[in-house]
Parts: sequence; C-alpha cells; structure tokens
Amino acid sequence: IVLLLTEFTSGTHENALKWGELSPAPGVYDFNDVDPTIDLLEEYGLRVRGHTLFWNMQRPDWLEDELAAAPDSADRLRELMRVHVQTVVGRYAGRIEQWDVVNEPLELGGENLAPDNLFSGELGEEYIDLAFAAAHAADPTAQLFLNETLALSLPRKFEGLIALAERLLARGVPLHGIGLQGHFFVDPPDRATMQEQLERIADLGLLIELTEVDLPYFHFQAQPDPFAAQAESYGDVFAACLAVPACTGITMWGTDDGNSWLDSFLLTSVFRPNRPLLFDAFGQRKPAYFAAVAELAATPRARRVADAEIDIEPRRAVNRIDPQSAGNVTVLVRGGAGLDVAAIDLGALCFGPAGAPPESPPIVRDLDRDGEADLLAKFSIAGSLLAVGDTQACVSGRMNDGRRLRGCDAVQTVIGCGMGVELPLVLVPWMLLRRRRAIAA
Ligand code: XIL
Repeated sequence: IVLLLTEFTSGTHENALKWGELSPAPGVYDFNDVDPTIDLLEEYGLRVRGHTLFWNMQRPDWLEDELAAAPDSADRLRELMRVHVQTVVGRYAGRIEQWDVVNEPLELGGENLAPDNLFSGELGEEYIDLAFAAAHAADPTAQLFLNETLALSLPRKFEGLIALAERLLARGVPLHGIGLQGHFFVDPPDRATMQEQLERIADLGLLIELTEVDLPYFHFQAQPDPFAAQAESYGDVFAACLAVPACTGITMWGTDDGNSWLDSFLLTSVFRPNRPLLFDAFGQRKPAYFAAVAELAATPRARRVADAEIDIEPRRAVNRIDPQSAGNVTVLVRGGAGLDVAAIDLGALCFGPAGAPPESPPIVRDLDRDGEADLLAKFSIAGSLLAVGDTQACVSGRMNDGRRLRGCDAVQTVIGCGMGVELPLVLVPWMLLRRRRAIAA
C-alpha cells in the first residue's frame, strides 16, 4: 500500500469489488473489504478505478442456482444485474471515476461472445447494453469501460472487440472507453503496432486505458540482460499509450513482483517467479520502472506531481532491530517558490521498504517553517528503524492546489513504517553478516 500511495496516481481493487466477493447471497452486500481502500486512495488524491461489475469468472456462487430456480431466468438475471449496479455504482457515485462495467465478454482466443458466459448465455449481447445503461443511470459522471483481455496480442480478437464496440455505440449504449488488460503472457505487439491499435479505438471516439499490465520475465529470460529487455518492453507499452491522447491511464496488475497474480494463476504459475512488474519483491525500483518513468517524463501529458526535493538527515541513521526503539530522522522538503507551505498534507509520509505494511503510521512532528524561501517543511519522525543498506526513502503528500508531492532521497538506511513480520527474518542474517564484516574491517 505504501508503494501504491507513493508511486502511483490511480488505484484499483484486484478482487474486492467483484460481484462474487461482494455478495454472499442474492441482494446481500458486504463492503468491508472495499471502503477502507477507497477512503485511503481518496485521502491521498489517487484516482479510483472500479473493477469490475460483470465478469463470468468470480461471479457469485449462488447465481446459477438462483437463475435455475426462477420461473423466468432471463428476467431474474436482468433484475439481479440492475440491483447489483444500483447497489455498487450507486454507493460510490462521484467517487469511482471509471468502471470496468463488463469484463471479458469475448471468447479467450477469438472474436465472438464467449460461448460459456452465463450472462450472454441468458441474454446474449443485451447483457452488455443493460449493464452500461444501468451504470450510467446510477452514476452519470462515471466513465464506463468495456474491459477485455489479450486483445492487443491477438489480431482477430482485436477486430472482434472493435466490432463489438461499434455495435454498442450504434445502439446508443453509454460506452465511454475500452480497457485493454495487457496481461502480456502472450507476446506484446511492438510499439508501432500497439499505437495503431490504440488509435483505432480512439477513432471510434472512445477512451482507452491499459488496465492490467504485466510483462512476465519468461519472455526475456533468454536475453543477455533480461531485466533490461523487460524495461525496453515496458518503455514500448508506455510510449504507445502516451502517444495517443485518448489513452488516459496505465494500471499494473499488482504493485510489486512479490504479489503478482501470475505466480498463482494456473497457466503462468509454472514460470514462477514471473517478476512482471515495475518493482521487485522488496519494493525496489526495477529497470522497467525507470523505462516507464523516462517515457512519462518525456510527455507533457503525464499527470505531474509537484517538484519537490527531499533531504533526509542523517543519511546514515542509527538503527536498532528492536521495534520499541524510536530513532529520530529529520526531513526537509524543498520546492519552488510560490507553493503554499501550509498546504502540505503529510499524511502520506512513509519511509521504508514498500513491501512492509505500516503497522503503525510514523509519527510526524515538529512541522516547522523556518523562513527559508524554498523550504516547504521540516519535520522529524520517530519510528522503528531498520538498517538494510543503500536505498531510497520517499516522501509523498498533497498540495492545496491539488497536485501530489513526491520526492525521494538516497539513504543508507531504510526507515521502516513499522516492520513487517517477514522482513526481519529475511534481513537479520544479512545484517549480522554485514556487521561482522564491519567488525573485521
Ligand atoms: C485475477 C486476480 O488477480 C486473482 O487474484 C484472482 O484469483 C483471479 O482474478 N483479468 C481480470 C482480473 O480482469 O480481474 C483478473 O484478476 C486477472 C485477469
């Protein structure tokens, strides 16, 4: 979650918003796994994408029986779908900016509606029309997407998706965009081809989002430098999207290589570790991250964060493994003139290995401005400190003009936001070794 808040400007739930996860029985809903995340994303100024209202997978396990027991199964399905949309989209109206209304309506490897899809089995393509109309009624401000998998990699499927979008638009369905998942376990197209594909969608007047990008390591493992090759491929994906103004966002399916779904998904688990993301399993930035950032930096279109320079002192912090021991670290945040100092929201401040969830938030105190023109904030934090060697510590926050503030400083210590349980186990032996070497020296 720390990575998400400090490195990204948009977030989505991987599973928690799916119908089967939300609803244990017809008409019964439990939002306990959803609300805290939405509150958090909002608090830190991230956009929220809603994923997903109707997907044949992860549908409620009671749905089939419920339809079988109904005198008119098609009518019962329409009714349940409407209730679902009103309950969920209505609940988050104005807060969830984009919805993947319908997920994967097409057959996995082809251009037609999936033959084994319960929704299209009952209602044909009408289920898509109904879902979009109901979502638009429940939140007229939300951007509504049709989300599909493998379309970038399989040309016939891509044509099927375009044809479906054209039919929906011709019928006046409130479709605003196409989500392209971007699970590239099938080879990704090259940069120019991908850009052409995105332009085809833009030509229909639709937005595009890359909604679930991952680029597994096995594509690159035969290369002399696999992570460099992966970075190049990530650069292509970012460049293709950024070159098309209608492509408004890129979402990775997971934050770091330690939690990719590909490692447990049947087809791809054999390639474990798939290492498909921008951050490694320790939350450190990979070459792919820097390739993506280079593309973002090269476009004026990317949502900018406020320029800020972060100074963390001392660079080599005193460290104790003992979680009770609190060390103090001073943080200086500098920015250009004209930024309103008082407006920094330090709530998002967090240091540490991103994989470690903050058990208790760091205590920020001594917020202080001392008259220096470009000094936005100076404060110290107290927390449990954990030495893991050279790394980056990052500060993020929000300005009162709406921009997000982010900056990192190289430090020789990771300053933990509370230590994760696994972390000391992995790190302690290494630290002891290091200490012994220091003593020997
Ligand atoms: C995946 C999740 O990541 C897994 O945790 C879950 O077991 C299965 O679903 N296409 C989608 C996503 O639209 O919702 C899927 O997410 C990945 C494929």
